Amino acid sequence: MERTLSIIKPDAVAKNCIGKIIDRFETAGLKVVGARMMHLSRAEAEGFYAVHKERPFFKDLVDFMVSGPVLVQVLEGDNAIAKNRELMGATDPKKAAPGTIRADFADSIDANAVHGSDSAENAASEIAFFFPSNWIFSR
Ligand code: PPS
Repeated sequence: MERTLSIIKPDAVAKNCIGKIIDRFETAGLKVVGARMMHLSRAEAEGFYAVHKERPFFKDLVDFMVSGPVLVQVLEGDNAIAKNRELMGATDPKKAAPGTIRADFADSIDANAVHGSDSAENAASEIAFFFPSNWIFSR
C-alpha cells in the first residue's frame, strides 16, 4: 500500500471537473484518504515547488497555481505513485496518451489540470507539506 499527493489544479477546478477526475482515481482503485480545498498563497506555492525554483517556468507555474482554488488530496493504493502518474498522462497535454486526465481535461503545459508526486521520497515530503498525520484517514 502506497500514498501519493495529488493536486487538482485551478484550471480543472474552474472547469467544474473535480468529480470527473476523482472518479478516474477511484475507478483505478485509488482511495482518497485526505483532502483540502485551498487557495494557495504565493509563499505556499513557491515552497511546494521550491525544487523547480531555478527553472525558467517557475514564475509561470507559481502564478498559475495561485490563480484560483485547488483540491489537494492524498491518494492511497497499490503502486499509488506510478498509477496516479499513469492516469495523469504526460506533463504536456499535447503529448498525453488518449484517455488520460491531461489529455481529457488540460489545456496547455501551463494549465495541465493535475499534479502528482513523482517518487516515494517526494510523495512523503509533499504529503507532509499539506497534511498533518491526523488529517489522513486510512483504514
Ligand atoms: S520534471 O522535473 O522533469 O519532473 O519537470 P516537469 O514535470 O516537466 O515539470 C515540473 C512542474 O512544472 C510544470 N511545468 C510548467 N509550468 C509552466 N510552464 C511550463 N512551460 C512548464 N513546464 C513544466 C509541470 O506541470 C510540473 O508541475 P506539476 O505540478 O508537478 O505537474
